[in-house]
Amino acid sequence: MEITFNKGSQEKIPPTDEATLGFGKVFTNHMFTMHYHHDKGWFDPVIGPYGPLALDPAAQCLHYAQEIFEGMKAYRGDDGSIYLFRPAENAKRMNISARRMCMPEVDESFFVEAVKQLVLTDKEWVPRTKGASLYIRPAMIATEAAIGVQIPKEYLFFIIVGPVGAYYPEGFNPTRIYVSEDFIRAAPGGTGATKAGANYAISLYGMRQANEMGYTQVLWLDAVERRFIEEVGTSNIFFVIDDELITPPLEGTILPGIIRNSVIQLARTWDIKVSERRIDIHEMVKAVQSGALQEVFASGTAAVISPVGHIYYRGAEYEINKGCAGPLARKFYDNLLAIQYGLAADPFQWRVKIA
Ligand code: COI
Repeated sequence: MEITFNKGSQEKIPPTDEATLGFGKVFTNHMFTMHYHHDKGWFDPVIGPYGPLALDPAAQCLHYAQEIFEGMKAYRGDDGSIYLFRPAENAKRMNISARRMCMPEVDESFFVEAVKQLVLTDKEWVPRTKGASLYIRPAMIATEAAIGVQIPKEYLFFIIVGPVGAYYPEGFNPTRIYVSEDFIRAAPGGTGATKAGANYAISLYGMRQANEMGYTQVLWLDAVERRFIEEVGTSNIFFVIDDELITPPLEGTILPGIIRNSVIQLARTWDIKVSERRIDIHEMVKAVQSGALQEVFASGTAAVISPVGHIYYRGAEYEINKGCAGPLARKFYDNLLAIQYGLAADPFQWRVKIA
């Protein structure tokens, strides 16, 4: 399929103060859209002006939350080159989400091409400051106007992009985390391993509870026993206990994070003992009390690596590494950024240079 370009007017200009970008509030002049109908497949791929979508109020996504998305970034190197980071992994994961949500798959190389062409169209918007990047948000919604609960025949795939800074207001400073026992994010057999918007909608209630208690995010426990740690906020979670790097296994309720996978691969090349295994919240508490717990950090595309300084569980607050970012979190952060921005060798060929 050929993408049609309809650039329109370039009415917005990129923000000049990249230090105060925040996350996800600013968007560029263009977006990618492509439609699907069950009888003809995907059609009309267009890069056109950024703007509101026209949706029938009966569109199924508005009623039954049939929406999936991805999160990726474009990075500008010191010499002006622009890179994507493992974009094929996002394309693959989008299709895994699509299958689970009964939505049509998108050709994976076309997905990457659409991302690339949109970033190139708005390449002036890729920030020049290290730590800032162009966030890329591919998404798919069911657009068929039909109120009965059935598998829709019509969909829209779109991509929007915008310059971002740190995801958390804390930046690389440690976050404060609240362990939710009252609410869950995902249950076995559910959609926890997909990037379905609905997973994020149901997380808001627990997040509000955490915020009201003075914490940044929720640490989610498993739905069945409420003791095995799953994810933190919108990110995967890692613990360093007695020099072992531990992260919960991918058993269907956890998002298979691309940064999670990159951390694991990097750790293995650094000869760090890595375990993808269940970790009980009581094991964590004991490890804090004995001094064996050295670090906790979150990983995700938006947050990159985000150290955790305090964890609240059942009326007690546990301090991690004196409330400071740990050396391993810093090392992963620095090394990932160096690869993403083209400042270091790329032994795994994760970078894709697009300009
Ligand atoms: C990402 O890390 O890119 C995500 O998709 C999290 C998001 C909900 C901001």
